[in-house]
Amino acid sequence: MQRFDKIIPREASASLKYDGRLETFGTNDVMPMWVADMDFAVPDAVADALQARASHPIYGYSMAPESLYQALIDWLLTKHQWPVKREWIVLTPGVVPSLNLVVAALTAENAGLIVQPPVYFPFLSIAENQHRRLIENPLILQDDGLGNLHYQMDLLQLDACAKEASLLMLCSPHNPVGRVWLKEELLALLAIAKKHGLIILADEIHSDLVYPNAQHHTLSRLAFEDAPSSSSKDAPHAIITAVSPSKTFNIPGLGLSALIVPDATYRQTIQSHLTKLAFAVTNPFSMIAFEAAYRGGADWLNELMAYLQTTRDEAISFIHAHIPKINAVCPQGTYLLWLDCRKLNLNDEALTLFFVQEAQLGLSSGAMFGRGGEGFMRMNIGTPRANVMAALKRLKSALS
Ligand SMILES: Cc1ncc(COP(=O)(O)O)c(C=O)c1O
Repeated sequence: MQRFDKIIPREASASLKYDGRLETFGTNDVMPMWVADMDFAVPDAVADALQARASHPIYGYSMAPESLYQALIDWLLTKHQWPVKREWIVLTPGVVPSLNLVVAALTAENAGLIVQPPVYFPFLSIAENQHRRLIENPLILQDDGLGNLHYQMDLLQLDACAKEASLLMLCSPHNPVGRVWLKEELLALLAIAKKHGLIILADEIHSDLVYPNAQHHTLSRLAFEDAPSSSSKDAPHAIITAVSPSKTFNIPGLGLSALIVPDATYRQTIQSHLTKLAFAVTNPFSMIAFEAAYRGGADWLNELMAYLQTTRDEAISFIHAHIPKINAVCPQGTYLLWLDCRKLNLNDEALTLFFVQEAQLGLSSGAMFGRGGEGFMRMNIGTPRANVMAALKRLKSALS
């Protein structure tokens, strides 16, 4: 048995995914495959470091040691060939707060924010939260007629709507559709951003969770390569990247992330907003886990990706063979499976009810992810494979 096959009960651990079922689905009687954390134990390096810290009985305000910054720098260089300077790093208490922070700090009231739906739903609320204008650049869904679904960016429409925007929020890799953007796609996006003077806020939280045959390209690194002399100052500097070990190593509850901001003026503006909002990073456990994960988690991550790949492939084969009314978009990254349920001809409320009441499955409704998400459901497969296959069997029986 592989370590990821182990079923670890999570009920009564104040887990949102498990203990939040009644509130979210109206019943505890669903297999929870919604909120994006995994049902796997963290790498030993992380658990050991946390236990060692817990054995010291004082949990005072903490400050991030230089070794933590170095662990992140080393990870980004080794994993993504991205040379990041120490002074570019701004620690933040989570990626979603960081996205709100950057928008508030770097754009004016009523400025246009471009998002690419269907997309991680907090992207859609940032405009409203921060009193900015939401501009949609929906992804294009292509169907090759053989059942293979593929999402692409609509670069023509992006070029048109970029004229009225100040900032583009990029999800790379993309949640929920699982795309890992090609270098050419990102270069085209960069060219459009440069032409219109757009700031790009790249959420790269899923960048370590990429399957073989796909490669994540850090947008900021591509921009530097594109403008090595930095003569056109705007190209590399107008990119702010959010990274975090939280999805990669399954520690999202600990809430620590980083913004990588090469431009000194943007960085100061972001820092002063952090101070104004009294956002402080002081939790000793989040720091210990962050550093331990980046230093000691690489082998665990390789095993995880191999495990998830097999789960992904078995799940998709099962769906193709046994659930003809549902199709799955094969993710190139993330542990999220985007299910096309449009053939069921149910509206979004009825679709969620069908999953909950007939199949006893708690998934995320595609409609939450905005335009283009209607008729889809997002299934979290970051759980022992036996759970994923049991869930699909429930779905098959509910439909037959
Ligand atoms: C694209 C994306 N960004 C951010 C987050 C959440 O980040 P955090 O928990 O650090 O706010 C998620 C979680 O699913 C996500 O998918």
